[in-house]
Amino acid sequence: MYKKKQIVEVEIIDLGDKNQSFGRLEDGISIFVQGPAAVGDVVQAEIFKIKKKYLVARYIGLVKPSPHRIDPICKYFGLCGGCKWQHMDYSEQLRLKRKQVQDALNHIGGFKELECGECIPAPSLFGYRNKMDFSFTDLRYLTPDEMEIQPGDHEKPLDFALGFHAPGCYSKAIDLDHCDLSTEEMNITLNTVRAFCLEHKDALPIYSTRSHTGELRNLMVRHGGNTGEFMINLVTSTHNAELMAELSEKLQAALGDKLTTFVNNTTSAKNTVAFGENEVVLYGPGYITDRLGDYTYRISANSFFQTNSVQAEKLYNQILECAQLKPTDIVYDLFCGTGSITLFASGHCKKVLGVELVESSVNDARANAERHGVENCEFIRLDLKDIKNIRQDMVDFGAPDVVITDPPRAGMNPKAVKALLEIVPPVIIYVSCNPASLARDGQMLCEEGQYKLISCQPIDMFPQTNHVESVARFERVD
Ligand SMILES: C[S@@+](CC[C@H](N)C(=O)[O-])C[C@H]1O[C@@H](n2cnc3c(N)ncnc32)[C@H](O)[C@@H]1O
Repeated sequence: MYKKKQIVEVEIIDLGDKNQSFGRLEDGISIFVQGPAAVGDVVQAEIFKIKKKYLVARYIGLVKPSPHRIDPICKYFGLCGGCKWQHMDYSEQLRLKRKQVQDALNHIGGFKELECGECIPAPSLFGYRNKMDFSFTDLRYLTPDEMEIQPGDHEKPLDFALGFHAPGCYSKAIDLDHCDLSTEEMNITLNTVRAFCLEHKDALPIYSTRSHTGELRNLMVRHGGNTGEFMINLVTSTHNAELMAELSEKLQAALGDKLTTFVNNTTSAKNTVAFGENEVVLYGPGYITDRLGDYTYRISANSFFQTNSVQAEKLYNQILECAQLKPTDIVYDLFCGTGSITLFASGHCKKVLGVELVESSVNDARANAERHGVENCEFIRLDLKDIKNIRQDMVDFGAPDVVITDPPRAGMNPKAVKALLEIVPPVIIYVSCNPASLARDGQMLCEEGQYKLISCQPIDMFPQTNHVESVARFERVD
């Protein structure tokens, strides 16, 4: 009885992933609505998919706003995939983040009885990011209004964009002039680099993912949230010494002493990851430092560092609280990055082994331990999908009493979870930026009854987005 293009009114009762929300029509059929809706909104939506048990529709407009609805501050809201939750007040964002973790543990992990803590809030709701990755594309994403303009009448070129990919549209990017999650220095850099690259368009063409030719790939900027140091990393296919020296001058003029280092990473990879094979340092030391708690960390362009410095310190204190380390404990910090958790843990236990894949991170981690005179930490470079290769290190270093694991969004490789089940440390602290990965890996740890999930604490590192971090404690069942 429903037809495609039919417009219906529905009250939103829950949010799903991929910018979808959910409601039920009067006859009880479920409807998924794509677009920026909030729980409690009554919206108009146009049906475009009809299945036996549900409908999928496109958000058209608001009939009655949710009490949690607020006006987004960003002009790119709804186009840019970054801040999907700017239209909801912060208390609602926190409620939904906790629910996301609880739902994943319940539905994916099968942990029916565990109650998560309330999501720990962030003090800054904008301008909190210490790192941004902007992409160059040779196809500018056009807003619905811009689509109406004739190709020759556009103010900005159609074949140049520096900004974020539009959701679900990887070949195009929105040409941004600012981002509200960035710092002022980052926005100045974005506009200075754009102007320079447009001026030198012939010598610096944009790298095309279709033809695999061209130069400009990514602009990464990094800010020491607690030191104020600032790094710019331009990622290109090859190094053009003359133009990079000229750009360095321009950036120093635009940013003054706010700029502390500028590097040019080059890569021949046939994808657009902002990761260089070679690095040329054009200004400053080639790295920045940031301070979390008692520790100052050196961070190179290719090394991972938590993107919200204020919340990172809270996260690490949460990890320590959850781990309850004893002075006799041997700790393994898997996916250790620049050794940030490793150093936090080092003062509370006998010794820590940090394990990490990326060479620059391992070098930074060693330098960070040395800088603080920390002598009870060792770092090894290892691809953790081959964690079984850690056996000899285990013999040398001692078996772990506590394993802290902080994998990327995709979670741990199943082989690595299996290896943990063979190592069987008494306590595993799983730190995750993806509740679904935590739930899946947690389920694998617990399915044979070897481990029990004891607690899970969500923490908000990414206000205005649907992302949430959590710290979970698993204990071995003896
Ligand atoms: C979420 S970050 C955590 C870093 C660190 N714990 C922190 O808080 O800054 C994940 C880290 O895992 C590393 N990594 C990714 N895949 C890996 C693998 N297969 N083996 C070892 N490390 C890996 C990344 O380089 C990154 O440093």
